[in-house]
Amino acid sequence: MIDPQLEFAPRTCRCGEVRPAHVGRTITLKGWVQSIRDHGGVLFIDLRDRAGVMQVRINPKGWPEADAREAYHIRDEFVIAVQGEVEPRPEGMANDRLATGATELAVRGLFILSKSKPLPFRVDEHGHANEEQRLKHRYLDLRRPEMQRIFTLRHNFYQAVRRHLSNRGFMEFETPTLTKSTPEGARDFLVPSRLQPGSFYALPQSPQLFKQLLMVSGFDRYFQIARCYRDEDFRSNRQPEFTQIDMELSFVTQDDVLAEMELLIEAIYRDTIGYQVPLPVPRLTYREVMERFGSDKPDMRFAMELKDVTDAVRGRTEFKVFQEIVDAGGAIVAIVHEGGSEKYSNTEVKPGGEFQMLVQRETGAKGLAWMRVREDGDVDSTIAKFFPEEARRDIVARSGAKAGDMIFMIADPKRAKALAMAGSLRLLIANRFDLIDKSKWSIFYVIDFPLLEWNAEDERWDAMHHPFTSPHPEDRHLMDTDPGAVRAVAYDMVINGAEVASGSIRIHREEMQSKVFSLIGLSREQAEGKFGFLLEALQYGPPPHGGIAFGVDRLVMLLTGTDSIRDVIAFPKTQSGWCPLTDAPSTVDEKALRAVGVKVAVPEDKKLQQAAAPPAG
Ligand code: AMO
Ligand code: AMP
Repeated sequence: MIDPQLEFAPRTCRCGEVRPAHVGRTITLKGWVQSIRDHGGVLFIDLRDRAGVMQVRINPKGWPEADAREAYHIRDEFVIAVQGEVEPRPEGMANDRLATGATELAVRGLFILSKSKPLPFRVDEHGHANEEQRLKHRYLDLRRPEMQRIFTLRHNFYQAVRRHLSNRGFMEFETPTLTKSTPEGARDFLVPSRLQPGSFYALPQSPQLFKQLLMVSGFDRYFQIARCYRDEDFRSNRQPEFTQIDMELSFVTQDDVLAEMELLIEAIYRDTIGYQVPLPVPRLTYREVMERFGSDKPDMRFAMELKDVTDAVRGRTEFKVFQEIVDAGGAIVAIVHEGGSEKYSNTEVKPGGEFQMLVQRETGAKGLAWMRVREDGDVDSTIAKFFPEEARRDIVARSGAKAGDMIFMIADPKRAKALAMAGSLRLLIANRFDLIDKSKWSIFYVIDFPLLEWNAEDERWDAMHHPFTSPHPEDRHLMDTDPGAVRAVAYDMVINGAEVASGSIRIHREEMQSKVFSLIGLSREQAEGKFGFLLEALQYGPPPHGGIAFGVDRLVMLLTGTDSIRDVIAFPKTQSGWCPLTDAPSTVDEKALRAVGVKVAVPEDKKLQQAAAPPAG
């Protein structure tokens, strides 16, 4: 019957924790009604909480009439308290898919703790709500077992990191979120100051400057699970606010940092999914991965390496496009789809064909040449006639193709571009034909990144990582003569094709710092204005230091096997930076603006967009 005492009675355990050992005991459970079935007046309820689901049986037939009526009014997602005796389920009725499936609770006392309106979508594994609905009612979406699994793992992840790093002598710090611009290169989010109207804080893109200051203070080994804010265009694995495990170490070389970080990643994998990461984590140079895979974060769960076939074609072809590109010093990069020759129709790959257009759109290539390798080692292709047999066989040989394979070629006057486009094609083919073994882990470091990156738009060098990154000692003599060839002591960790961490050994000497600033066209005054406090600190006995930051959200995506970064963030934003739950960002009233000395001047065309419903995505 209805028992008001149950409102305040403590739970004996969680619903999902009931086991055969409880049989015969009287217990109290509280939870959500996941589903309710009425078998001739007897109610069977799946009662859910964080730990799982327990079947409870309520038979209100002998109850006082008002009590029975209340029981029959229970609906999905009501929160109820139940008390009764745990019984074994009858022979053959056990549910092997539930940890609690051998038992059932025979309810004597019931209390309804709260009611629920009908939900906008189901919260069990059968729910297929669209993402905007899910984000608008995120608190309901988070009830789904899949989401509970993800955030339980995320919790375990944090604890593994804290335990491990603390044991390894790292100290946890918090650094400001109301601060000045930091050097990661995206746009800043700005916060107006009321006490100094007209002035703005910037939200940090990372704790980079502060962690270096902590090294100057002598803290030696720092870590922080830090929120970072970047106002950039979102891609599939980016969010405007995201989390890093940020670390910095003093008196270390690159080898020290990499060795320390593989212990961390080993601990994370062990304590979250029980996988043993093979150590040491392999290291590949930037140069090597660009040559072999056309990407600085290649997915190495499958092979399909790029092959340069320029020399097979040079001086041997009448094919105009290739001729011109080779003469201009460009390159032709081949990629072989093993056994792929029958997987594409001619209509699909011809100029204007569906696959041809897809590749051009996705990779930026101007075109896609193809050759099917025949049993006799020669090829079939609409462009075969432009190549003498010798050249055709040489292309096959250099690309490593066999009979039945499909060779694709991308040519570009810029070799690096041809490699990068072929690298995107490699991924496109792998995804389209499901060539990636999802049970594998490909974990490695990329080292020896270039120090600088040419910014064609502004016609100057940018720091590829950030301006405090140390040039490679062996390349310092090139800084004046060939800056683009200078390597940095900078490294990434790449897992299954995602950049999960990035870091570097920092510059700790004044002269070198000035040199790098001048290379990237930053005058001393500009540098002082932006990072003056760090530059000053570096004049007071800075230790040599270096560090790294892991992207927590990306790692949790990998560990949980989700492909949307929004699935691993409790309250994420859509691709347009909108939060459907709170409807942020939003306008604020005049008075609030006046207080911070800000006047809004949105161009007319932008205003229209604002008035319309915020775009989903
Ligand atoms: P970096 O800018 O490479 O380095 O960032 C480090 C790692 O953070 C993750 N990450 C992101 N994750 C989700 N959404 C984003 N918008 C996003 N941007 C970056 C990536 C990346 O590898 N201060 C330096 C680190 C250092 O030098 O120690 C830094 O922030 O996984
Ligand atoms: P076309 O000369 O336009 O008839 O092209 C003949 C074939 O060459 C088509 O399959 C084109 O996609 C391909 N092609 C054109 N430009 C390139 C390029 N830069 N790299 C590779 N293939 C190309």
